[in-house]
Amino acid sequence: PPGRTIRLTVNGRPRRVVIEDRQLLADVIRAELHLTGTRIGCYNGDCGACTVRVDSRITKSCLVLAASVDGAEITTIEGIAPEGELGDVQQAFWDSDAFQCGFCVAGQLFAIDDLLDTAEEPSEAEIRLALQGNLCRCTGYVNIVEAARLAARRRQEKGRNS
Ligand code: FES
Repeated sequence: PPGRTIRLTVNGRPRRVVIEDRQLLADVIRAELHLTGTRIGCYNGDCGACTVRVDSRITKSCLVLAASVDGAEITTIEGIAPEGELGDVQQAFWDSDAFQCGFCVAGQLFAIDDLLDTAEEPSEAEIRLALQGNLCRCTGYVNIVEAARLAARRRQEKGRNS
C-alpha cells in the first residue's frame, strides 16, 4: 500500500517518516526510527514498556497510530540523556540498583519523571500509583520506588541550591 509521510520532532530533531496508515507509533519508533530503547511487551496498553512522551504527555506508544501524531514532538528514552550523561531519574536508578533486567525501564523512568514534574515529595503510595501502568516482570518494585524517592530528594536539594 502507498505510504504516507509524517513529520515528527524526535528527541529534538526534525524527522520525516514514511508510514502505513495502520502502523503503530511504537513500531515506527523501533522499526523506522531505529530507536530500540522503546520496548514492546504486550501491544495492549498493559505493560508500559513502550512509554514515550508525545508533546508533553507520557503515552503508551503501542496504543497510538503513528498517523495520528503527525507534527508531534516525541521524546524516547534515547532523548533523556542526549549529551551522553544520565538524566537525574536514570542516575537515581543506577544508584539504587533499580535497572534490573532493563526491559521495562524506559517506561518506569518516564512514569517517575512525569510524577516528579508535579509532586515534589511523593509518598510511597503516590509513587506506586504512578507506576501502576508499568509492569516489571522481575517484580522488583522496591528498588524502583527507592530510586523515585532518591530522584525526588535530589531534585528538591537542587531546587534549594539554585
Ligand atoms: Fe505498550 Fe505494553 S507494549 S503497554
